[in-house]
Amino acid sequence: MPINFHDEKNRGSYANRNADEAWKNLARTLVDPAGLRVADVGCGGGIYTRAWAELGAQEVIGVDSSPVMVEAAREQCSALANVSFVVGDAAATGLNDASVDLVFERALIHHLTDLESAMAEACRLLKRSGHLIIQDRTPADVALPGSAEHIRGYFFERFPRLLAIEQGRRWPGEQVQSAMAAAGFTDVTEMVLWEPRRVYPSFSELAEELRNRTGRSILHELTDEELEDLIDFVGKRLDHDKVIAEGDRWTIWTGRRG
Ligand SMILES: C[S@@+](CC[C@H](N)C(=O)[O-])C[C@H]1O[C@@H](n2cnc3c(N)ncnc32)[C@H](O)[C@@H]1O
Repeated sequence: MPINFHDEKNRGSYANRNADEAWKNLARTLVDPAGLRVADVGCGGGIYTRAWAELGAQEVIGVDSSPVMVEAAREQCSALANVSFVVGDAAATGLNDASVDLVFERALIHHLTDLESAMAEACRLLKRSGHLIIQDRTPADVALPGSAEHIRGYFFERFPRLLAIEQGRRWPGEQVQSAMAAAGFTDVTEMVLWEPRRVYPSFSELAEELRNRTGRSILHELTDEELEDLIDFVGKRLDHDKVIAEGDRWTIWTGRRG
């Protein structure tokens, strides 16, 4: 069954982690965050909403269609006076026309069936020459094999049906670029980012995260029994004497409002 972002049980799934320095460094090369008004659409528990504020944005507004996620994000960012959250859809955020300098959408678009409407909404929110940054995985990104650095690959080795689900919901790069261009974005670029996800001092921390399906919506497609089987499968492939440093390969698309 797909993840239900409205379920209280998933409240912490996209909240309790900090954006890695590698992500922050790339963000700084894409745009100078100082003084910007940013909309983080599909903000989840606010990990990257907070990161944009830490990078120097003047104001960051997180938007998410799930009230549960918005509540978790508010808790995570309660100390930041320049961060706020609203419940809204990627295609109808409720924010004003030409009101932000940057629209950021991380791990959102694979949950959308209508990319065009979300791109049109991003364009509407942006001031002239404002930036859109999209971060997601393509069908090629998700098909990478499993390794100590790319744990997700093991999910598909053990349960090939999960790969079919992943590939069915991930947008190919060309389609994202076309949707951006059709919505009126110019200077569209595409690049790869290996983003460190988390360092696990021992396998038991990783096993616990997998068991809770934290930040891994694809694992909601497995029964609890299948999940235990997967944890065992992954455990047998890793060296338990080594720290596990997991990362993910992402694709980043950028464009400017014409
Ligand atoms: C995988 S989480 C990513 C959260 C966050 N951006 C991150 O990278 O940690 C996807 C988020 O998108 C939200 N979402 C899904 N469909 C949406 C839509 N149509 N409009 C706005 N948010 C949506 C979900 O509620 C969820 O919080």
